Amino acid sequence: MKFPDFMESKNSDIIRAKAFLEQGALVAIPTETVYGLAANGTSKAAIQGIYSAKGRPSNNPLILHFPNLKAIQPFVDSISEEVQLLADAFWPGPLTLLLPKSDKVLDIVTAGLPRVAVRVPNHPKTLELLAQLDFPLAAPSANPSGYISPTQASHVEQQLGNKIAMVLDGGACQKGLESTILGWDDQGQPIIYRKGVITAEAIEKVLHKLPQNHKAKTLEAPGMLSLHNAPNTKTIVSAQIKQVLTEHAKKTIGLISFQQHYSTKLKGISEEITLSISGSLEEVAQKLNAAMHTMDLLGLDIIIIEKVPETGVGKAINDRLTRSMSQ
Ligand code: TXA
Ligand code: MG
Repeated sequence: MKFPDFMESKNSDIIRAKAFLEQGALVAIPTETVYGLAANGTSKAAIQGIYSAKGRPSNNPLILHFPNLKAIQPFVDSISEEVQLLADAFWPGPLTLLLPKSDKVLDIVTAGLPRVAVRVPNHPKTLELLAQLDFPLAAPSANPSGYISPTQASHVEQQLGNKIAMVLDGGACQKGLESTILGWDDQGQPIIYRKGVITAEAIEKVLHKLPQNHKAKTLEAPGMLSLHNAPNTKTIVSAQIKQVLTEHAKKTIGLISFQQHYSTKLKGISEEITLSISGSLEEVAQKLNAAMHTMDLLGLDIIIIEKVPETGVGKAINDRLTRSMSQ
């Protein structure tokens, strides 16, 4: 049977990615959230490559990516009923679970922590790749440590192109925001360590318990403690656009606005990207990182990002934005 051309090329991409990963090389992979910088999750040497390509501190652990829940089993102590319910409801999808690890998980993956972060990403190319590999993929977001997360193959090429074997191009990421991270405390209560498009309310519908937000500033999720994913350009996040513009008159300003377009009404804006004319927070999540990438390449003095309403996925977006303010 002869496949149409596009199918042949799709397969050859995945075959190439598989061969590189089996050799211990780094491959950027598409997911529904952001692109990941992937390596063989059972090879210490391959994983060291991730840390050095990203310039990532070694105390910041990595998520292991699997094709399905069954493949996760050997890497965790046990699969609880709640994990099963969440997997049925959300996988493949933008949810990462922190589960007690088995001996099979290398210390370099968890940075010595007792739990391993696992997820089944929802992207057809990456799911096909994972299904063909006999190891999970360790993958942080494919950005240099501290910089904006990539939601298009070109972002990865620009930032890390010379440090990796290839980018498996899967187009623009559908969700655009890193996965929600969920774990359980000692009392068995669900805790959200990182907000994402899967909200506390959506998890409550499945578990019949409302997860709480993680508060303690411990090393349990080290990546969440510092300001990160920031553009190089000075960035201000605010709901008071007019006021911020007045305060920074005479500067060249790029505005990333939520729903309304300000340039037609207010002076002092050099560039503006309005994320969702219809006011969809999902659309904002999907486009935000790409807008920051675009603005950051323009040589502006300041990027101003408008806060979004604190509802639904808006909470995750604002949380991320607050962490993106460079000092
Ligand atoms: O959507 C996503 O989750 C993307 C895609 C590629 O899957 N990945 C991603 O990875 O965002 P990364 O490394 O950029 O963020 C993972 C976060 C970090 O804050 C890290 O500290 C935390 O998860 N983390 C990973 N393993 C952990 C563990 N064992 N215990 C606690 N926190 C962990
Ligand atoms: Mg990251």
